[in-house]
Amino acid sequence: MDKNIDNSAREILRTNDKGGFTVPTGGLYPYQWNWDSVFVALGFATFDELRACAEIETLFEAQWEDGMVPHIIFRRDDPDYFPGPRVWQAGDAALPTSGITQPPVAASVINDLWEQSGSEAKGRLEALFPKVLEWHRWFHRYRVPAGIDAVIITHPWESGRDNSPEWDAPSASIDVSSVEPYERRDLQHADAGMRPTKLDYDRYIALVEYGRKARWDHEKIATEGPFRVADVSMTMILLRATRDLISFAEKIGESGVQDELEGYVQQLERGASYLWDENAGTFCSRDTITGEHSGSVTNASFLCFYAGVATVEQQERLAAHWDRISAKVRYMMPSHDPDDSTFDAKRYWRGPIWQVVNYMLAKGFAECGYPAWAERIRDDSRELIAEHGFNEAFCPVTGEGSGGRDFSWTAAMWLAWLGED
Ligand code: DGY
Repeated sequence: MDKNIDNSAREILRTNDKGGFTVPTGGLYPYQWNWDSVFVALGFATFDELRACAEIETLFEAQWEDGMVPHIIFRRDDPDYFPGPRVWQAGDAALPTSGITQPPVAASVINDLWEQSGSEAKGRLEALFPKVLEWHRWFHRYRVPAGIDAVIITHPWESGRDNSPEWDAPSASIDVSSVEPYERRDLQHADAGMRPTKLDYDRYIALVEYGRKARWDHEKIATEGPFRVADVSMTMILLRATRDLISFAEKIGESGVQDELEGYVQQLERGASYLWDENAGTFCSRDTITGEHSGSVTNASFLCFYAGVATVEQQERLAAHWDRISAKVRYMMPSHDPDDSTFDAKRYWRGPIWQVVNYMLAKGFAECGYPAWAERIRDDSRELIAEHGFNEAFCPVTGEGSGGRDFSWTAAMWLAWLGED
């Protein structure tokens, strides 16, 4: 283990700790983000397990009455970020939030943390069980329609993969003509070439304005809204999280929910089939309005291993993509297919590598009998941080950092996964 890198990683978490919750990075993201916090808990757990519990507890403080856990919590208004609480108008007055959710990695992380924790932390993690269960129920109530059986996102930000080319076609029909004038703040903190475009932002804001006008009525938004895409990453992550929730429930003696959770697993497995694109030979997202697959091979396609759903034939087709992509880039795994015309090695989710996705990929590969892939991902991830620092994301061709610096979840991945001997 490299002690200097370990120390720097801990220092980043301490600096970004705003008192029980951690911001992803100063300036660019000055609030608490949902899946960032959960991954960050894995990093804290390596040196302060009660602080790790606090990170997830503060996230669930903002859980809505209907069970949704929002994607951003606005504990104060910070002019550095747009769109802030006044634009969203969601959550309650005491704890304003955004009006959408993010990938539900909590059950998986809590299950892992519980295994390695002492009794006090175990008790605090167990107390989160009913809240996580309510969040999973929320997904099944609003976002996993019978017949589709995969998770529908209603805003690209819900996927966390904001500007993936997977959203280009489904976003094309979003009406941006009446978007209120706004000023982007992200460009004060990051290079424009590494961020979503103006057209992307117009669409993001149009969807926020739509949700606000709908008073964040998720039944309406998920059945009538302008963006309803069955997302491969959300589906695979929720499927894995449900398996982990079942395992956690067993360990802590929560009987009585197994049948319900097994039913969710079966439904999401059917959803994975809905997302299989036979032509492209990959799992990918699918617009539920048009029925069209994106046809894209992304790092999220490979989360099928983490979710434990790919058949032997599907694995063979994905192996061909792995061989093609890994021969093309120096570092794995790019967020988008380098052979696709929309690939952009520096622009956010259109090419750069994200350490938290690599973490889930490596876990899935190791579990499903692909140890060489898991090792390649881990070696590349280690080298990227050791050579280029704790960046938000990394260029798969040169390894250069992109986006924000001193990034909390990148530091957490070093502590929890990459720095281990
Ligand atoms: C942003 O503001 O760029 C975020 O990714 C939204 O979640």
